[in-house]
Amino acid sequence: MAVLKAMGVVGGGQMGSGIAQLGAMHGLDVWLLDTDPNALFRATNSISTSINRLISKGHLSKAVGTDALRHLWYTSNLEELRSADIIIEAIVESEDVKKKLFLELDYIAKDSAILASNTSSISITRLASATSRPYQVIGMHFMNPPPIMKLVEIIRGADTSDETFSSAKTLAERFGKTVICSRDFSGFIVNRILMPMINEAFYTLYTGVATKEDIDTGMKLGTNHPMGPLELADFIGLDICLSIMKVLHVGLGDNKYAPCPLLGQYVDAGRLGRKRGIGVYDYGKVPEQVKPSARL
Ligand SMILES: NC(=O)c1ccc[n+]([C@@H]2O[C@H](COP(=O)([O-])OP(=O)(O)OC[C@H]3O[C@@H](n4cnc5c(N)ncnc54)[C@H](O)[C@@H]3O)[C@@H](O)[C@H]2O)c1
Repeated sequence: MAVLKAMGVVGGGQMGSGIAQLGAMHGLDVWLLDTDPNALFRATNSISTSINRLISKGHLSKAVGTDALRHLWYTSNLEELRSADIIIEAIVESEDVKKKLFLELDYIAKDSAILASNTSSISITRLASATSRPYQVIGMHFMNPPPIMKLVEIIRGADTSDETFSSAKTLAERFGKTVICSRDFSGFIVNRILMPMINEAFYTLYTGVATKEDIDTGMKLGTNHPMGPLELADFIGLDICLSIMKVLHVGLGDNKYAPCPLLGQYVDAGRLGRKRGIGVYDYGKVPEQVKPSARL
């Protein structure tokens, strides 16, 4: 099994930027790609802020932090990922959009490259079917935020090879993560359990059982969760939560997974959570818009 040296990450949002940071901090050359220049600009800022914070807290040496920043490149050109040994996709949670990307990645990536998806819920087997290399396609589900959270959930598609699995597991362990393995069913392990709870918190709010503050306080102090489910939904992104519930609903064919109408209404209103400055809660600020000409 060859050691992975170069990594491409597609999608420079909260997950992609964190995965790119992890790769660079652990000695890989990393290309981070996003089609939106604003997202790349935000990713550069968030990665350097996060690395500086880790250095100032003594969790990372200055030498490793500086070296990591030197091994990260930002791009909007897919061709730049040609030399990557592994490409991890972290774009919008939509099967159609991800499949289109996997088709393109299959075309540009070198023959030996592994194509991984950070999907929260979508079938790896179906994403792999868009490529000519299903044995080299795998799910690597990092948790949010990737540099901090200790878990990576690995999902094998129907045809994922043992070698691809070993490479993905070794990479996650090199990043200091604990690996769990899930079979390829909608939502895998973590979101199969977490998302229905978050959805139920929305139903509890929607049906007037309690205020958002009391729902979150109840779950924090009553069940020892570090964040309440509605706060957590804002942190994950309400668009992501809604997409996952839709995948669970269709994929598992049970109405108990029907997304709460209030969740759908918030997403329709653009209340996507922290990343938009407003979700269930109002964070009082909207992230700055950056001119497209901003230097990346
Ligand atoms: N948010 C979480 O807590 C979380 C946790 C684990 C996994 N995930 C999964 O990770 C993925 C990304 O989630 P996120 O929260 O980072 O989303 P996000 O909205 O923060 O970022 C997505 C990024 O992808 C970019 N993008 C969209 N289509 C693209 C394309 N075709 N090519 C290149 N870039 C494209 C967007 O410009 C955006 O910057 C999703 O599949 C999600 O389900 C999310």
